[in-house]
Amino acid sequence: MANKRDNLAIVGLQWGDEGKGKIIDFLGKDFDINARFQGGPNAGHTVIRNKKKFVFHQIPAGIMNRNITGLVGAGCVLDPQVFLIELADVEKADPRVRKRLKLSKFTHLIFPYHKIIDKLREEKKGDERIGTTQRGIGPVYEDKYGRVGIRLGELLDEDRFRKKFKASLSYKNFLLMELYQSEPLDEKKVFEEYLAFGENVRDMVVDDAYYLNQEMEKGKRVLFEGAQGTFLDIDYGTYPFVTSSHTVAGGVAVGLGVAPFKVEKVLGVAKAYVTRVGAGPFPTELEGDAVESLRKKGGEFGATTGRPRRCGHFDIPLVRYGAMLNGVKEIALTKLDILDGERTVKIGKEYAGTDHFDPMSVDKAQPTYVELPGWTGPTTDVGDFSKLGVNARKYVEKIEELSGLKVSMISVGGETEAMIVR
Ligand code: IMP
Ligand code: MG
Repeated sequence: MANKRDNLAIVGLQWGDEGKGKIIDFLGKDFDINARFQGGPNAGHTVIRNKKKFVFHQIPAGIMNRNITGLVGAGCVLDPQVFLIELADVEKADPRVRKRLKLSKFTHLIFPYHKIIDKLREEKKGDERIGTTQRGIGPVYEDKYGRVGIRLGELLDEDRFRKKFKASLSYKNFLLMELYQSEPLDEKKVFEEYLAFGENVRDMVVDDAYYLNQEMEKGKRVLFEGAQGTFLDIDYGTYPFVTSSHTVAGGVAVGLGVAPFKVEKVLGVAKAYVTRVGAGPFPTELEGDAVESLRKKGGEFGATTGRPRRCGHFDIPLVRYGAMLNGVKEIALTKLDILDGERTVKIGKEYAGTDHFDPMSVDKAQPTYVELPGWTGPTTDVGDFSKLGVNARKYVEKIEELSGLKVSMISVGGETEAMIVR
């Protein structure tokens, strides 16, 4: 694991839902700031503490650690409605949590039209659909890169916001009516709602880069939180079946305004098997009854949308390529306990003679497998690696051998404490 004072980035090495939320919550006690650098309410980071489950979509997942200040960076997108609901939930646990939350003034805002267009466009696409979370992610990032987006800081200046919003809404209403044969949005209602949101969060709004660099200068230690997963990255993922942001560790620098070398260490999170929600290639995907059983055991339903996740075997070329993209040498292996009771466990070793995961042609990949005997378990509550059953240990060691990566943490249950640290 990281040296005591290193800044650390946590990224997913698969297609999201690797269990990053729990790892961040677990490690959060040793950090001062937990900063998200990309994505928005498409994420669903689950944290379970004392049997109470929190699903974070917008707020950094380490926030339950009282020592942590949560920061939502410029590379993120923010949905005010989702944020406020989540904030209210967290405030029940810590009424003073607002004091520990900062939002970048540069963060682009999700408006109702982004969500409506995301949904209508997916419906229109039929079989070609990406299977987005319909949270408006694609449309809001399009506006950002099209240089017509509206940023959180702009809400704090009523005249400026009114002008930009009017222009934006008249164009979006035109699209909604003419292209999608849908209802236009009420200008006054949306304007007032967002203006009120700006007032509500005014005290949390910062220049994230300035804030973060100053704090680091003072010696504060930062945990950078990735959302989604490496293969949903806009450039290096399985395009077009990806999200609209940079999910790889390189995204930290641009998403938070910090120099790349400030990301001193990157920990990859990989689930002991693989899941994917939405469309797109998945070489080691399982079919038939096997999926049903794993999905049920692992509770593999989307934390954001409730959709059933596709499930498959651990994939070595995928994780190796992901580790390369992120500079990962160590991984946290999650949900090992879900494989308890499997008769055998398979690991995708290579793709018909090559170990190169090529995101552009991976739809044609033919994985070959190694098969190992399963274990009966339970693996939860063992505490120490040496106390894991021999076959469970062999599975972990085989992953290390084939991937060339060290498995430094193993998560064996939903609760924060269900963790083996090596
Ligand atoms: P979008 O990010 O909502 O545009 O969705 C694009 C693709 O990324 C879809 O396949 C989604 O299911 C997937 N996706 C987005 N966010 C997450 C996540 O947090 N976990 C897993 N999959 C995600
Ligand atoms: Mg998730």
